[in-house]
Amino acid sequence: MPFRRFFERGAKREAPAAGEDSSVEQIEVEEDVEAETEAEPDEGEYEGDDSAPEDTREIDWNERARVVLPTGASTGSKRAEALYGDASAVGPTHYVSASGCRLVDPRGDTYIDCIMALGAVALGYAEPQVQQAAMMAIAEGHVSGLSHVREVDLAERLREHVPCAEMVQFLKSGAEGMSAAVRIARTYTNREIVVGSGYFGWHDWSSDATGVPSAVRSLFRAVPFDDVTALEHAARSAGDQLAAIVIEPVVERMPSEAWITAARELATSLGAVLVFDEMKTGFRLRPGGYQALSGVTPDLAVFGKALANGFPLAAVVGRRDVMEAARRTWISSTLAGESVAIAAASAVLDAHESTDICASLAAIGQAMRSSVATALEASGIDGVTIEGIDPMWLLRFEDSRRETRFLELAASHGVLFKRGAYNYAAMAHDEDTITEIEAAASAALVELLEEEGGRA
Ligand SMILES: Cc1ncc(COP(=O)(O)O)c(C=O)c1O
Repeated sequence: MPFRRFFERGAKREAPAAGEDSSVEQIEVEEDVEAETEAEPDEGEYEGDDSAPEDTREIDWNERARVVLPTGASTGSKRAEALYGDASAVGPTHYVSASGCRLVDPRGDTYIDCIMALGAVALGYAEPQVQQAAMMAIAEGHVSGLSHVREVDLAERLREHVPCAEMVQFLKSGAEGMSAAVRIARTYTNREIVVGSGYFGWHDWSSDATGVPSAVRSLFRAVPFDDVTALEHAARSAGDQLAAIVIEPVVERMPSEAWITAARELATSLGAVLVFDEMKTGFRLRPGGYQALSGVTPDLAVFGKALANGFPLAAVVGRRDVMEAARRTWISSTLAGESVAIAAASAVLDAHESTDICASLAAIGQAMRSSVATALEASGIDGVTIEGIDPMWLLRFEDSRRETRFLELAASHGVLFKRGAYNYAAMAHDEDTITEIEAAASAALVELLEEEGGRA
């Protein structure tokens, strides 16, 4: 795949103007979403052409969404209140097209996106090679009554990249993949208790949201990130009932070696399965995820997000004897093997095999966060820090109202930052883009402080 040097690609392409966590993406549930009962405007079908039609531009998509979607957005982190910390904040909530690292909203305004589909896109939106692979798969007929050969091919190729991957099962979302990994671990061990640290998606087994049966909750023991004592206590308390230790290995910082080693040793000594959730770390820190970086090999791991550069695909991978337990239970999804996302993931692997994408993402992320750090420092603002690691970094505000206003102002200057969660580096964030990010952050901070009457 012919990647130009990372700073030369992607972001300058004009976007065509038409169509989870505390680990950082925990979904904020139960927020007030007022049902809007006014009659909706009668707008025409949006055709996705080069310029948003006038009536489309005038529509308040956020308001329309609240009427028809119970939480306002099917992805929790894309609700207005999740984006800005306030449902009535001023800032884009919808887009009509995206290319490189830029998106265009229904009014025709273009924004640099630092959110990058919550980490699902690391190469860039509408990345040409990935897009071409996906279109080829569509043209071939991407589903049938049989499995496509691409599924076998991608499974074989993943084994070359991921240390623990001897066998592979594809699914569609990260949550689905994690549920499957836990089902496999429970089947393999014939045990039920799971000790976990991190965010694993919205499914019942690890959720404490309203609606999850208490019997299910009682089988999951959450432990804090990087706390050896808590992990040991929870794992040993479960003893011979422990099916799995499930770890999101990087949450805002790398874990201590002691914690990861303890997880590995406890799982082995207690006869449980060690599962790494590599949703954010896979194809970002290394193609093979945190395990490829750390040298600590789990029994199972789950990849998603950047795996298919935004196409819906998750891969549960792991040791052969553990994965074979999938034969004794039931894990299946009608479209798990559809070949568009699988072709997209193959193009992503091509990219990683021809260039050190992960090294570039780290360098780009470093440049992004430094540019914002420079803006913060120049403004003299206090109560704002930058956390995280280079390819995925976040802004942390002590004052949530300030955060909302900063995000609104940054958007008004053409840059979208993620509230309370990671900004992700992508190959499409080039040098000019990073200069623009710094300028927008600076302008937003100057205006914020002016509005506050000069308070730093
Ligand atoms: C670490 C981790 N695991 C699992 C998930 C769930 O993935 P999905 O939203 O694709 O179901 C996420 C999503 O943010 C995640 O960050």
